[in-house]
Amino acid sequence: MENFCFYVVEKGVKRISILNSIKERRSIHTFKEREVDWNILKEIFTYGTYAPTHYMKESWKIKLYQRNGKTDFIDKIIASYQRIGMIKNDRTEKTLKMIESMKRFLLSIPHHAVIYYEKPEDPIRNEEEYASVCAFIQNAQLAAWEYGVGMLWTITPYMHDPGFLNELGLEHDKVKIAAVLQIGYPKKVPQDKGRTPIEEKMEVIE
Ligand SMILES: Cc1cc2nc3c(=O)[nH]c(=O)nc-3n(C[C@H](O)[C@H](O)[C@H](O)COP(=O)(O)O)c2cc1C
Repeated sequence: MENFCFYVVEKGVKRISILNSIKERRSIHTFKEREVDWNILKEIFTYGTYAPTHYMKESWKIKLYQRNGKTDFIDKIIASYQRIGMIKNDRTEKTLKMIESMKRFLLSIPHHAVIYYEKPEDPIRNEEEYASVCAFIQNAQLAAWEYGVGMLWTITPYMHDPGFLNELGLEHDKVKIAAVLQIGYPKKVPQDKGRTPIEEKMEVIE
């Protein structure tokens, strides 16, 4: 039964299948302090790599920020928000408080993963790479869920700030950040919002 996987939950061992994970996975907004073990993170992202990838490009790349690595990363996020005008660039008490609370919140997340790829110049190839990297992300999210690990897939304005990319050591004209994943053990799992029945989205032509 290869598609079954075991993970330890508070009251024992829970067995879940990939089909349950597809439905039960939720985007996680609050995380426990506990870090995810490096071997589990490696497993999770390895499952990600089984995403379909045209010409076997496997374009996904990851910068994983954790422990002391988070401080500098978060400073760069704040600097970017100030550069693009989402946070005022002054030193008023209000601004400083806002920065402090944002930093505290971001620091409380155990791991941040920047998922990026080298953009091909050809727009069709670029679509292929982007689509494949998104499939990688969802595979990783589902694998994570099977290990009891939660993620939040975020797309934020700083991902389009050339200065931010340069500060991460990425060439902004050559690289696209597809997502920043927030990762950790869920403190709270949001309720299932449900989904629209697929018949409402599907036209059958025969
Ligand atoms: C491409 C993409 C970007 C997202 N960006 C954000 C984000 O920036 N902030 C956020 O809170 N959720 C973000 N989400 C998560 C969605 O809000 C979430 O998937 C949706 O509400 C459905 O909830 P579920 O994932 O728990 O089923 C993003 C999801 C996707 C696919």
